[in-house]
Amino acid sequence: MATTRQPLVAGNWKMNGFAVSVSELAGIIEGAASLNGKAGMMVCPPATLVAAFAGRAKGTVLAIGGQDCHAKENGAFTGDISAEMLRDAGASAVIVGHSERRQYHAETDADVSAKAQAAWRAGLMAIVCVGETRDERVSGKALDVVGTQLAGSLPDGCTTANLVVAYEPVWAIGTGLTPTAQDVAEMHNFIRQQLVARFPAAGEGVRILYGGSVKPANAKELMGVPNVDGALVGGASLKAADFMGIAGVYR
Ligand code: PGA
Repeated sequence: MATTRQPLVAGNWKMNGFAVSVSELAGIIEGAASLNGKAGMMVCPPATLVAAFAGRAKGTVLAIGGQDCHAKENGAFTGDISAEMLRDAGASAVIVGHSERRQYHAETDADVSAKAQAAWRAGLMAIVCVGETRDERVSGKALDVVGTQLAGSLPDGCTTANLVVAYEPVWAIGTGLTPTAQDVAEMHNFIRQQLVARFPAAGEGVRILYGGSVKPANAKELMGVPNVDGALVGGASLKAADFMGIAGVYR
């Protein structure tokens, strides 16, 4: 029997949003309900807004996630936030290993793996991001790079419920550029093979999102690629109309 995976369309708000942004959630919550379970939706606001967004989304189908967490539960780590704190604020998931964290905060695969384990310890789903740079793509190393990231960033013990992988080519993030459908198919098929080889029980059921310049105009094509189980959306998730223009492909 073929494995069915519920697609997920998650919005990564990055360092954007103020208290007033909670008003944008009304349209997203309404839109999420209109998908009738054909896809799940999530918004990952900055940490300052997790509690307010989770409060607004409570009792609806919209999930709220964090954008990063520390590997430890608590302690002397000024400025950091633990997975348990995100959970306490109402999050059900957390993004780890986003390329902006890997790039600007020098996070290694080992760091990302520790964060994913922290997410699981706190009962959160981990959205683990991987993706190659432009140079790595041009020099034909994309699959190797992503294979290495997966091997190092995914801890043992994943389930279909606690892990989502997001493939986000670094050169496609915020640039308006996207890989061809063929390149996305090749990479997502590769990621699926890696997941199945390493996690025989869960690998087929783990969702693999595509991220990087997903817009209403390209969502249908990208979401239609085999082994693309939804999207991780940055800029276009900030406005309900754009975000629903993407998630609406699953209606
Ligand atoms: P983008 O960002 O949709 O703005 O390209 C995607 C991401 O970084 O998750």
